[in-house]
Amino acid sequence: MKAIVCTKYGPPDVLQLKEVDKPTPKDNEVLVKVHAASLNAADLDYLRGRPMVRIGGLRKPRYKILGSDIAGRVEAVGRNVKQFQPGDDIFVDLSVCGFGAFAEYVCVPEKPLALKSASMTFEEAATLPQAAILALQGLRDKSQIQPGQKVLINGAGGGVGTFAVQIAKLFGAEVTGVDSTEKLDMVRSIGADQVIDYTQEDFTKSGQRYDLILDVVVSRSISDYKRALNPKGVLRMVGGSMARVFKAMFLGSLISRSKKMSIVMWKPNKKEDLVFLTELFEAGKIVPIIDRCYPLGEVAEAFRYLEEGHHQGKLVITIDSKKNEFP
Ligand SMILES: NC(=O)c1ccc[n+]([C@@H]2O[C@H](COP(=O)([O-])OP(=O)(O)OC[C@H]3O[C@@H](n4cnc5c(N)ncnc54)[C@H](OP(=O)(O)O)[C@@H]3O)[C@@H](O)[C@H]2O)c1
Repeated sequence: MKAIVCTKYGPPDVLQLKEVDKPTPKDNEVLVKVHAASLNAADLDYLRGRPMVRIGGLRKPRYKILGSDIAGRVEAVGRNVKQFQPGDDIFVDLSVCGFGAFAEYVCVPEKPLALKSASMTFEEAATLPQAAILALQGLRDKSQIQPGQKVLINGAGGGVGTFAVQIAKLFGAEVTGVDSTEKLDMVRSIGADQVIDYTQEDFTKSGQRYDLILDVVVSRSISDYKRALNPKGVLRMVGGSMARVFKAMFLGSLISRSKKMSIVMWKPNKKEDLVFLTELFEAGKIVPIIDRCYPLGEVAEAFRYLEEGHHQGKLVITIDSKKNEFP
């Protein structure tokens, strides 16, 4: 099969389209023919070999085929697999079971798999597992978003942010989306009541206060967040600089007892959440924002675009065996 292989950390140029052995499912696994995969900002950490990911592979990547989110069709099942059969369409986040999204086939344990709705394209389904789950769990769990609350999404125009804006609106919040200039029309179009251009204005200095801030990029200091939160406000940190995240988590509660600052402790592939997101999609209540689709052979190009930061919403890899030719 064809796959994008990563044998060393580095820029997107290190990625190579290669012919590798098609995997064989173990007893508890299914073999999935991958139809679409999506890129997440976290995939860049694995490509670049950022400190956190080196715990699993100090000098070179532990997993040679990167990529977390896929949607595809079950082609074969191991002898102990009970819930899936060949022909089932599924979607899943592979970051907890060995990665391998950027390939024509991947073997996956049956447990994390969820059935894809027939009303979703493979491309749409591949956008959901990591980004939409982070948005949903970040807003709902612990922070317990409530109708009428003032909610700010920092990084509203990216993968997690575009789902977060839509989900916060569904929970009845008044939503402010913060991102760069060229993304703001799109952020408004998916439901944000207000938008702020972070290149022009600092949301922590506007005098506005929020009940809940979901921060995808954690770009401010603890005292900035404190100023931007209502007395009982909550900061939920999805990603960003680890130094800032840990500072806010450990020092935040010392500085202000009533304002809670915590990391989103993500529960990937939680079945009820994937079913809930599927129902929202089927009811037309959330729409994945897909900026561009790339063929498998152009994964490196997709990473370059992701790294430049101009993408709006999600980037998708469409894996069509007939078109995955070597250049
Ligand atoms: N907590 C967990 O358990 C967990 C699990 C998996 C992943 N993660 C993390 O979750 C994050 C997911 O990010 P994503 O995929 O949504 O990334 P993304 O698609 O790159 O979106 C980030 C958005 O933030 C914007 N941005 C950059 N700097 C900003 C600033 N200073 N102020 C406001 N907006 C800014 C970017 O726009 P411009 O580039 O135009 O500025 C972009 O639109 C990653 O950091 C990942 O590591 C967390």
